[in-house]
Amino acid sequence: MSSLSEPGVNVSRETKATNLPSRYQGWAEMFDNRVASELRPGISILDVGGGRRPAVPVEQRPEDCLYAGLDLAASELAAAPDGSYSESYVGDIANFRDDLADRFDLIVSWQVLEHVKSLDASIENVRRYLKPGGRFISQFSGTFSSFGLINQLVPASFGVWLLKHLKGRDPATVFPAYYHHCWYNAVRSSMSAWSGVEVVPRYKAADYLRFFRPLQKAYLVYENWTANGRHPNLATHYLVDSRR
Ligand SMILES: C[S@@+](CC[C@H](N)C(=O)[O-])C[C@H]1O[C@@H](n2cnc3c(N)ncnc32)[C@H](O)[C@@H]1O
Repeated sequence: MSSLSEPGVNVSRETKATNLPSRYQGWAEMFDNRVASELRPGISILDVGGGRRPAVPVEQRPEDCLYAGLDLAASELAAAPDGSYSESYVGDIANFRDDLADRFDLIVSWQVLEHVKSLDASIENVRRYLKPGGRFISQFSGTFSSFGLINQLVPASFGVWLLKHLKGRDPATVFPAYYHHCWYNAVRSSMSAWSGVEVVPRYKAADYLRFFRPLQKAYLVYENWTANGRHPNLATHYLVDSRR
């Protein structure tokens, strides 16, 4: 069933509110720091679903970096800042392409895998696009997050309306999301062919409820419980860091 995404554009990278748990601050740092640790001259990177905002901005790239973008929407790739992509590919990460096989040292993806119809096929294609020993760093939203469940239940147009009013999202930056196999055990089993896998459950959805503090406080009681280390399938997001 199609629904709409937790934001991938601007608002999801940082949270301004200060009344929220410390895990809400520096939200993108875990992803950004891991990506930065892998950058070196001559590296070849594929950004899956980088669209209008590649995960590594041009000015942060090392010398002789090849930076390819694969995105379902040609219009999103075209909206990226000039010079963002050395090579652009329009297509679905779930569909294998021979011309990308075994080519990349690093594949990155920020807030995209909740949009794919088959997480398993997408992850397998990412593995095959990496060189042996290559690294994949990705963050995406969870199937059993509050916003994921709501988005899977309500009509798409209502989901767009909600994101516009609750999070100030531009409707043009909202994409259909399927949340296919986006929970801890499913993600781990889709990665059984990888040589090293780390899946980090993360918890951050109370910022949707900032319009009504009592509800936000009540939700945080639940979210803090899910974040106690014993409920990884209920995470709102997953950071995956793995090696082919
Ligand atoms: C929420 S946006 C995130 C964009 C960017 N990564 C960012 O941080 O702003 C999701 C992006 O994934 C792309 N996308 C959605 N489904 C895809 C698929 N099956 N294969 C490749 N790209 C996809 C969309 O076109 C869009 O550019």
